[in-house]
Amino acid sequence: MIEKLDELFVIFKEKLAPLSEQSDVLNLKAEYLGKKGPISDVLKSLKDATNEERKTIGSKANILKTEMQGLVNTKLQGIELATINKKLDENKIDISMRNSISVNDTNHGSFHPVNIIQREVEDIFISMGFEVLDGTHIEDEFHNFEALNIPGDHPARDMQDTFWFHDPHGPEEKKKLLRTHTSTIQVHGMTERKPPFKFIGPGKVFRCERTDASHEMVFHQLEGMLVGENISVSNLIYFMKTLLSEIFKKEVEVRLRPGFFPFVEPGFELDIKCLICGGKGCSVCKQVGWVELLPCGIVHPNVLKAGGIDPEQYNGFAFGLGLDRLVMMRYGIDDIRHLHGADLRFNSQFKDY
Ligand code: PHE
Repeated sequence: MIEKLDELFVIFKEKLAPLSEQSDVLNLKAEYLGKKGPISDVLKSLKDATNEERKTIGSKANILKTEMQGLVNTKLQGIELATINKKLDENKIDISMRNSISVNDTNHGSFHPVNIIQREVEDIFISMGFEVLDGTHIEDEFHNFEALNIPGDHPARDMQDTFWFHDPHGPEEKKKLLRTHTSTIQVHGMTERKPPFKFIGPGKVFRCERTDASHEMVFHQLEGMLVGENISVSNLIYFMKTLLSEIFKKEVEVRLRPGFFPFVEPGFELDIKCLICGGKGCSVCKQVGWVELLPCGIVHPNVLKAGGIDPEQYNGFAFGLGLDRLVMMRYGIDDIRHLHGADLRFNSQFKDY
């Protein structure tokens, strides 16, 4: 009997060794250790054996059973580990492949040129201590016009052809519109903080205009506002010059002209020498050689009042940078309509930026 048990154990080990599937191992376990297996047979046959035999063979059989069970468990664990390792190997990402030809061949996304420039401008202002604020596209008349010193009958409303939402059920004063400029962010920004403060607010703006090489119905501005005590035009010029030299990484020629905006007094237009034609005249600069880029000025006292700020104590400057024009000057794009044409051949040119 003892020899038979030893023999069984040897055969069991031989059969177990080559198995690599969990189900095969479980079948072998059932075959040997199950109720109808050879070990059970041996134990059953002990009823006719002597006391002495029962003791030695019984305990030997139980020891073998435990050992077999142990071997089965070790085998099963090994198989589980091998399965996990295999899966990990299959899903492995080789990060050193990032720049290899096969990865570059795939069509990966990239930032839109307007976003590239917007992020750069944000970084420049953040480094000068400005906050970056967000605003909503849908606004009311108060934030888009009234608080900015443009009352209902003011001719300046015509300068900004507005997309109105006509709510047939709503009262007149609840009329909503698509913001025509990011100056709405000035109004929200002022009412939410106490001077001194400085922030920028980038975003899309909307105007019901005919499109041409330098006009779109949807375009991007980046508003800026700084409020404190004794702020002067020279402070404004300093910030604008810093911005432009950082963006273009070279000296650009600028000129300051008087400009009219009801929310600044005095108001200016900061133009840069057209970088598309070098000042000779082209469709982007409308043949004048200069491009309007940065309308700006000293914040009108009425605007400060509307924002809950005492104009006797505080003053400040504001500007509205035209992001699309900046993009066009930087990359030499001669038609603003390319920016929103959704033509992937255009967009994919900026993948490396
Ligand atoms: N909001 C003005 C526009 O869209 C630009 C501007 C902003 C002018 C801030 C002066 C100060 O035309």
